[in-house]
Amino acid sequence: MSDELKRQAALVALEEIRSGMVVGLGTGSTASHFIRELGAMVRSGLKVVGIPTSEASHRLAAEVGVPLTDFKTNPKIDVTVDGADEVSPELDLIKGLGGALVREKVVAHASRRVIIVVDDSKLVDRLGSRTVIPVEVIPLAVDLITAQLESWGGQARIREKDGKPFVSDNGNLILDWKHGAISDPAELERRIKGLTGVVDSGIFAGVAQCVIVAGSLGCRKLEKP
Ligand code: A5P
Repeated sequence: MSDELKRQAALVALEEIRSGMVVGLGTGSTASHFIRELGAMVRSGLKVVGIPTSEASHRLAAEVGVPLTDFKTNPKIDVTVDGADEVSPELDLIKGLGGALVREKVVAHASRRVIIVVDDSKLVDRLGSRTVIPVEVIPLAVDLITAQLESWGGQARIREKDGKPFVSDNGNLILDWKHGAISDPAELERRIKGLTGVVDSGIFAGVAQCVIVAGSLGCRKLEKP
């Protein structure tokens, strides 16, 4: 998706933001457009506070002037705007190719409304058919979790960056589990989460209320019935 289309999708999401809101700030290139546009609105007088989903989003929000808050001051988020790596027809998601899945899930679950901004290449008939499932694990447990996931099928690999294991903002490792098409995302999300040593997975079942899809013909909004 071109950068301009990503920005257009972010602008559609921005239409839902009102003064006084607590806003969850997603991670990734599309969510970054939203944060920049939100910063421009704040500079024009919009009064919001943000809760970032990663150190990168935190830095960007600070740079563009979005005031930040925390869960102690604001335990409930009005709207979160974030990206995704796969979106199913039921609006279930795979997230976390950017490595921020745990904070993204914490923020999403604390939100009254979750808006996902994607390009149409992210739409799939069944989750898992294209991307891996990211699974964040504490370093001690990584070999145990790798063996457990592979006993269920597919292949799990420790994510690397610049030839070294990628370390999340939480100090953990990420296993990229090539699973294949998932028949029941909510059930698989529960199963993975049930493994001791797993912090969370990139399956986000039943979390998004709205997905804004940008394509060459413009943006369309998919709402959860
Ligand atoms: C970050 O951990 C991810 O969940 C991102 O939201 C996801 O990778 C989408 O990023 P893009 O908007 O850059 O495609």
